[in-house]
Amino acid sequence: MLSAARRVAMANPSALMRPLTSLTMTSSFSTSSSVAAPVNVKNITVFGSGLMGAGIVQVAAQNNFNVTMVDLNPAALQKGQDIISSSLKRVAKKQFPEDAAKQTEFIDTTMARVKTSTDSEAASKDSDLIIEAIVENLKTKQQLFSMLDQVAPEHTLFCSNTSSLPIIEIAKATKRQDRFGGLHFFNPVPQMKLVEVIRTEQTSQDSFDALMDVCTRMKKTPVSCKDTPGFIVNRLLVPYMMESLRIVERGEASPQDIDTAMKLGAGFPMGPFELAD
Ligand code: NAI
Repeated sequence: MLSAARRVAMANPSALMRPLTSLTMTSSFSTSSSVAAPVNVKNITVFGSGLMGAGIVQVAAQNNFNVTMVDLNPAALQKGQDIISSSLKRVAKKQFPEDAAKQTEFIDTTMARVKTSTDSEAASKDSDLIIEAIVENLKTKQQLFSMLDQVAPEHTLFCSNTSSLPIIEIAKATKRQDRFGGLHFFNPVPQMKLVEVIRTEQTSQDSFDALMDVCTRMKKTPVSCKDTPGFIVNRLLVPYMMESLRIVERGEASPQDIDTAMKLGAGFPMGPFELAD
């Protein structure tokens, strides 16, 4: 959450401020589904082994899903594995503070559920759910999903973890818009409980239910949102962060006083500048 909001707010606030004309404004969702979604997702493929991809892989593996992590090259995959290893060590120490054997067992069992691959086609063959966490670029995401649409099984659900791109625009690259949604995880994934589950007007009820179920099985708290700019959290957070900066720029209050004000006056656990740090 932190870096996504920060990145968008500080670098490109307009990314979240798509014109209303581009929004999905229909009041009801399609419930039609040409192919029934899997009732029970077991195998997940995650594209991108960066900060978010690695975190999603870790949380899925910790919660008994079989996961394949895909990236462009072995060096990137190694980086993802290193992120997972050091994060798992912290989790293991917290869960079994006095028991080194149990810590090792927890790490080994979790890592045994993770495969890595640079072969997108092979990695998608047995997948029930593909979660994309690659670079934040519409064309790159569309190209990836267009290719995956040809090679993944009919029943496979597709998801993007994008923070700022319209899910429907990515979904249009496929012929399975009914099985396409957004799963917006927050950084750091292992610690942050929230996942925004994004429905486009094409996402079927079956697919939506399956995505909510996956989040719950990952021990996350899912919330539902239409395919709108910034979804819920960033839609509210970005203007708040921007206005905090403007107050400082106008010389009206210091960052420290703004942080104190929001903590003691609004009950926030931290102020906007602490959050940005
Ligand atoms: P990152 O830059 O850390 O990782 C992206 C990874 O994707 C890299 O390892 C890259 O090699 C790989 N990649 C690029 N093209 C690929 C392809 N065609 N196939 C397989 N792998 C490919 O990025 P990060 O921060 O993990 O973000 C990923 C996505 O998650 C973005 O869409 C971002 O907007 C979103 N997001 C990021 C958050 C954050 O706080 N960083 C929070 C929530 C969402």
